Amino acid sequence: MTSFKIAPSILSADYANFESELKKLEATGAEYAHIDIMDGHFVPNISFGAGVVASMRPHSKLVFDCHLMVSNPEHHIEEFARAGADIISIHAEATPHIHGALQKIRAAGVKPSVVINPGTPVEAVKNVLNLVDQVLVMTVNPGFGGQAFLPETMDKIRELVVLREVNQLNFDIEVDGGIDDKTIGIAKEAGANVFVAGSYVFKGDVNHQVQTLRDALHD
Ligand code: DX5
Ligand code: ZN
Repeated sequence: MTSFKIAPSILSADYANFESELKKLEATGAEYAHIDIMDGHFVPNISFGAGVVASMRPHSKLVFDCHLMVSNPEHHIEEFARAGADIISIHAEATPHIHGALQKIRAAGVKPSVVINPGTPVEAVKNVLNLVDQVLVMTVNPGFGGQAFLPETMDKIRELVVLREVNQLNFDIEVDGGIDDKTIGIAKEAGANVFVAGSYVFKGDVNHQVQTLRDALHD
């Protein structure tokens, strides 16, 4: 049986109150806290760094799913591992050393995850699928919350499902960007099982919003 996981993104939370925002998320039964790290270089925005992650760590038991939207992520892995990341996602587009960088994440005792942007084919990560615990298929171009879901990315999820089966691999498939109570079902049907949602979760009562996502998965 596939296990579905909801991963609210704190990019849309109140940055002055991360402790209470995390507590609210934990009370919803969400499995992960998705933490978006942006460097103003790989993506235009700057969000927050490892220091913020380390400060949040003692206040939450949620799985910290750290999505590094940074150039040359291999230079920052130990830092995020020390800060308390449980999963580190790095972009195939962000480094010429994706294979070594994923190995570095595993060696740091963290679950490695590889990310592809909407314009990047599955082919780009085919040779590292055996190294990862998760593949993150971006369903928007990274950098901002609140963008519209790109349905054309669903074919890549279907491709990954086939590759996982044929090669007897074992990784989760995560989607990130434009996930709401409608699009979550589309991503589930394609084969995704981890669902990031930022603006949808924080635009209303967090508990209610997470439950509507959960309900949509079981429709
Ligand atoms: C986008 C980030 C996302 C973002 C999603 O670059 O990687 O995690 O928080 O936001 P929504 O759910 O609003 O599209
Ligand atoms: Zn993200």
